[in-house]
Amino acid sequence: MLQPNNLTERFRRFLAFLVVSGLCAFIWHGWPRSPLAGQPGVASSNNSAQLANLQCLGVSSCASTACHYGSGAQGAKGSEYTTWATLDKHSRAYNVLFDELSRTILRNYKRLNAAEAPHPEREALCLRCHAPDQPGQVLGGPSLIAQTGSGLDGVGCESCHGPAERWRTAHYLPDWREKSATEKEALGMRPTKDLVARAKLCAECHIGTAQREVNHDLIAAGHPRLNFEFSAYLANMPSHWCEQGENARADFPARSWAVGQVVSAHAALELLEARAHSARDANTQKAWPEFAEYDCFACHHDLRDDTERQNSVFGKRAPGSYPWGTWYYTLLPEIAREKPAPAAAKIADSLKELQALMARPYPDPVAVANLARATQDHLDQWAKTAYAPLGRASLESLLSRFSHDRSRSTVADWDGCTQLYLAIVPLYQASQGLRGLPENRDVLAELAGLRSLLQFGAGFNSPGNFHPQVFRKELDRLQKLAPQ
Ligand code: HEC
Ligand code: HEC
Ligand code: HEC
Ligand code: HEC
Repeated sequence: MLQPNNLTERFRRFLAFLVVSGLCAFIWHGWPRSPLAGQPGVASSNNSAQLANLQCLGVSSCASTACHYGSGAQGAKGSEYTTWATLDKHSRAYNVLFDELSRTILRNYKRLNAAEAPHPEREALCLRCHAPDQPGQVLGGPSLIAQTGSGLDGVGCESCHGPAERWRTAHYLPDWREKSATEKEALGMRPTKDLVARAKLCAECHIGTAQREVNHDLIAAGHPRLNFEFSAYLANMPSHWCEQGENARADFPARSWAVGQVVSAHAALELLEARAHSARDANTQKAWPEFAEYDCFACHHDLRDDTERQNSVFGKRAPGSYPWGTWYYTLLPEIAREKPAPAAAKIADSLKELQALMARPYPDPVAVANLARATQDHLDQWAKTAYAPLGRASLESLLSRFSHDRSRSTVADWDGCTQLYLAIVPLYQASQGLRGLPENRDVLAELAGLRSLLQFGAGFNSPGNFHPQVFRKELDRLQKLAPQ
């Protein structure tokens, strides 16, 4: 099939980020900050329809020196703009559309001929995630961006905190603090303190929705694969705030991991449902099944005689069938086991059913849409339990299971192993934090060893040199260091 090094440079760089720089930063700098004054928990609600009509005012309206353009250290109150503009890639999200890579992606995607110039900076598809997403400015009229220059903001303050039309002149007044999160939300401000709402926010662009998606067509055209893991992405985003209240507690890494797993699975299932619906629509040209739903490296790998795939993985599914959902759903059943509730028990079963359906060459879109919907319903019913903190015993039980059990199918492919690694790191951090212990150098060295196994070899844009059995051996070494 494909030579591994045919995969795009961007994709390789993306994964290199995920596995190297990002996770390094995560391990070394991802420790929770000391607890600050208590902050009440905030319930999330979905009023996006209401938000849709509000105007964004642009980053410049937040960036006066008296407000968010201070010159303090990263995270210092008042220096949010400075952090965003100098350290945060979100501030470059629009500018990146002028890069040669963006032009190549759009040229490939739209199959433009040499005479046609690609304009990603005006393309609604790209602007939806790379610029302020707002009907007047973006979806309806990219030309408005050209006129107003507002797209220059990239993913700006209001992309995350909500359009400021109705709260900008109010949110610094003394009585603003008295308002509940729901009242603030009604004015357009999103509840970013609430971890669930925060994860949903990131998922809108980093996993995608029916309106904004990075599918296999776009990936094949050169766009990086979106494989989002909330706790790692959150730790990697140069934060312009200090966590407060329950977010400042030692279990934060584990809580953001667990919340992220559930929210991401839900968002990915919503996207699958939408994709299945559009597969039934004769007017859409969209591919079905959507390859971005599957394990990339099941198709894009080098063929060898004696493969791990033939030796172990095929035991569980028909040889040659499509392995679906290896990224977003692998560890979810494990969390459900730790947080039992009537609906939790159904999650693993319906995911298994979905996996069987999606493994077919042409999965029935009606059945897939229904099952994806039903699985979301189970997740919703489980939500109250699912989003509650793990507790030290559960957290350590998960950590021990993830680092001890080598026979599970989880560790059979690169996606599963990477998810496992991304789980072990925050669980370990939280476990040490809750015990009041500092990070252990030996464990960090072991984790660095695991991480290096997930990196792609020189000249490869896929894990052609990745051997799950070697990863398992490395896990064995970690086993001695994990809490018993
Ligand atoms: C569903 C949202 C979404 C859509 C639609 C989308 N992107 Fe992206 N794009 C992202 C995200 C998220 C990243 C960052 C990926 C990461 O690093 O995890 C990204 C990364 C990129 C990068 C690499 C950025 C860098 O720093 O090198 C380029 C280039 C890019 N996108 C171009 C495009 C173009 C061109 C289009 C339209 C054809 C487009 N994107 C459509 C979400 C999207
Ligand atoms: C990619 C998403 C994102 C972008 C872009 C973003 N923020 Fe934030 N911001 C957050 C998150 C998440 C938090 C942490 C939760 C919280 O405190 O609300 C936060 C926290 C804050 C806080 C602290 C709130 C508090 O009560 O402690 C301020 C102030 C803030 N952001 C201002 C800005 C400004 C100004 C910009 C633009 C220059 C900006 N943010 C851009 C996501 C974002
Ligand atoms: C409006 C869409 C949008 C939202 C919401 C959003 N992002 Fe992003 N994010 C992007 C895009 C687009 C990029 C790529 C920017 C670039 O490289 O030019 C990106 C890049 C990133 C990167 C850098 C990735 C890399 O390759 O270095 C991190 C980390 C990140 N986002 C974390 C988050 C987190 C955490 C949240 C939620 C609090 C979030 N993002 C919310 C669109 C978004
Ligand atoms: C079911 C099989 C299958 C799956 C799963 C799959 N692809 Fe592909 N992919 C293909 C085929 C077939 C092509 C077209 C090959 C060609 O034209 O040479 C392709 C093309 C590509 C290309 C462009 C060709 C190249 O060599 O640069 C990229 C990049 C790519 N896929 C990345 C991915 C990523 C990333 C994933 C996972 C999100 C993925 N693919 C999942 C079958 C698959």
